[in-house]
Amino acid sequence: MSTNTSNLTLEQKASLLSGENFWQTKELPEAGIPAIVLTDGPHGIRRQLAGEDHLGLHHSEPSTCFPPAVAVGSSWNPAVAQRLGAGVGKEGHRLGISVALGPGVNIKRSPLCGRNFEYYSEDPLLSGILGAAHVTGLQAEGVGASVKHFAANNQETDRMRVSVEIDERTLREIYLPAFERIVKEARPATVMCSYNKINGVYASENRWLLTELLRDEWGFDGAVVSDWGAVSNRVAALKAGLDLEMPGNGGTSNREIVEAVKNGTLDIDDVDRAAARVLSLTHNSVASPGHYDVGDSHALAHELARECIVLLKNDGQALPLAGNSRVAVIGHFAAAPRYQGGGSSHINATREESALESIREHAARLGAEVTYSPGFTVDDHAPEQATLMGAAVEAATASDVAIIFAGLSEQDESEGFDRNHLDLPAHQVHAIRTVAQAAPKTVVVLSHGGVVSLEGWHDDADAIVEGWLLGQAGGAAIAEVLFGAVNPSGHLAETIPLRLQDNPSWLNFPGEQQHVRYGEGVFVGYRYYTSADVPVRYHFGHGLSYTTFRTDNLDIEVTGPSSARARVTVTNTGNLAGKHVIQLYVATTAGPVKRPARELKAFTKIDLDPGQSKTVELGLDHRSFAYYDEPLGRWVAAAGDYAIQIGVDAGTIDTQTSITLVGDTITRELSMDSPVGEWFGHPVVGPALLQGITASMSEQQAHAAAANQDSMRMVESLPMKQFVGFLGDALPPEALDQLLALSRQPAEAV
Ligand code: BGC
Repeated sequence: MSTNTSNLTLEQKASLLSGENFWQTKELPEAGIPAIVLTDGPHGIRRQLAGEDHLGLHHSEPSTCFPPAVAVGSSWNPAVAQRLGAGVGKEGHRLGISVALGPGVNIKRSPLCGRNFEYYSEDPLLSGILGAAHVTGLQAEGVGASVKHFAANNQETDRMRVSVEIDERTLREIYLPAFERIVKEARPATVMCSYNKINGVYASENRWLLTELLRDEWGFDGAVVSDWGAVSNRVAALKAGLDLEMPGNGGTSNREIVEAVKNGTLDIDDVDRAAARVLSLTHNSVASPGHYDVGDSHALAHELARECIVLLKNDGQALPLAGNSRVAVIGHFAAAPRYQGGGSSHINATREESALESIREHAARLGAEVTYSPGFTVDDHAPEQATLMGAAVEAATASDVAIIFAGLSEQDESEGFDRNHLDLPAHQVHAIRTVAQAAPKTVVVLSHGGVVSLEGWHDDADAIVEGWLLGQAGGAAIAEVLFGAVNPSGHLAETIPLRLQDNPSWLNFPGEQQHVRYGEGVFVGYRYYTSADVPVRYHFGHGLSYTTFRTDNLDIEVTGPSSARARVTVTNTGNLAGKHVIQLYVATTAGPVKRPARELKAFTKIDLDPGQSKTVELGLDHRSFAYYDEPLGRWVAAAGDYAIQIGVDAGTIDTQTSITLVGDTITRELSMDSPVGEWFGHPVVGPALLQGITASMSEQQAHAAAANQDSMRMVESLPMKQFVGFLGDALPPEALDQLLALSRQPAEAV
């Protein structure tokens, strides 16, 4: 099928640029153009055939609910994301989808964001690597991806109009890199622009974002699709680079486009370009279907969930459970699992597997006895609470171990609104503490999409299993971890703070009067906690295993002015096979901007048998060392020292080595407005300037100037044009011109 639009009328072309209905583009049978279906979503297909909405009011076809992104983030394994993408793709094919709306790669700026369950991490590298793997897996099945929500959509409050006030360095270093990596490495069929404004301009009308950055700089060659209802002014959006408006609005936008071309306010080339890009999506619809089987798909969801569970705490080796003959399971979520979030990504799952049924199976094999009591209602402090608790305490008292399933309900967190606290419902905290007093050992299993506080009960539990939302087969995976059939290998993709107020976005979330100021800049998540030395409950990257690992022989080879190769050996020093994540952080103060204490720059997950050692190699490129220099408008790897750190988590460094990099050769041009400090600090101009000035001084004057460093500091901020006046004829205009010319020549990075 061609993307040539020359045979189409203006009206036909315009009609391709918005949805025919909620999920489909316009079909033009007379031109041989089929309609295509775009639907959610990120961790399963939500295909509505009978009625259409994105509130889940209408039924959707059954499909596999894979682990949502919050869980995949904790896997730290791109293979998990890729296989998940492929699973979604196969199902998408079966259900006639051309574009599956996902993955969501927005950064978790605040733990309160209601949609954090749909996002991977507070870290852009982890988000980008997982997102690129998802897109690769999905698109290999012939279904296009829609990477969302582009960009800086990090809250639900006022999401349709809030203006994100943000500086370019923060955008480039934190909020854009995941999109950038995915676009460059995985070539997604579409990018979905977000609802919000960025510095006052709707993402849908932001030409810098949708065209200059996305296409011209990153080379995106797919179509830009609006989030559902994100277009405010259709003609302005088209000019900015938004190709397809979704859903359709009964032809209103199309008529506006036709009218604008006719009255000369819109260039026909803009229409042609966008129509060709929408047509190119129809190619996805003709790929050959992969094999799909509902059982296989469920098995895949199960396998993937195993790697996403994070063992947060395991005092006295409370887990695994082997050896306990009486197990008291308590909590509603054990029997009725919470495994996905609310809103547009909600899947009508093909099956559900509860942890309770799997726990019973494991226990039966070991000859252990299992009792179950709901213990508490999920949300309300219901009247029957006392009776429920009484039964739970009785069961806990008679057990060797109590396993409490706690967490948040779908009413507590969803797309469309943010939370206003991190606490578990108070009656659940009470239940955990009461049961823990009665039981010899207590294990808490958590189910929720956004971080919950562990304070007030953390010390009562012997072990804590962070189950997030694990998809439809998550219950079985949890049981396997509890019984040691699976060795946990998940690691936190976001920090668990001690207090909500410690979060760097606290004073600026969710903003006010339609503005949200990203005042913390690049200091998001662990970048802030580690830089400000703020204690947290569990660091980004934390995750325990039933075995132990030793990391040694860190060796760094500098391979260029701003590149290096790290080699490190990891040994499984315990008695069980397990997976280990090697987390490599780079720490530096190089360059003229404030750098986070450390930043994740490479990671890999490896499998090790007991006693086995593996040496892994991790490459570090220019970007691994660079910051975004706003005045220069580019990434700069500054000359200087860099510590390469291997961390157990972002707050705990196992081993480190320092390297010195030559850095970039850049030109930082001086002007007469530049302060004196910059002139003297310039690597080429500075020495020449000093020499020029001292040459004109008597020996005595030069000596006095050198001795009086304080007066130098006083004038550092003075613009050169003022400073020359103080020097008399020490710096004649010709000498200044020569120095200015020198500053235009390439120099080492400063
Ligand atoms: C959401 C998108 C979703 C779309 C279609 C919007 O409200 O923000 O993530 O893909 O609806 O359901």
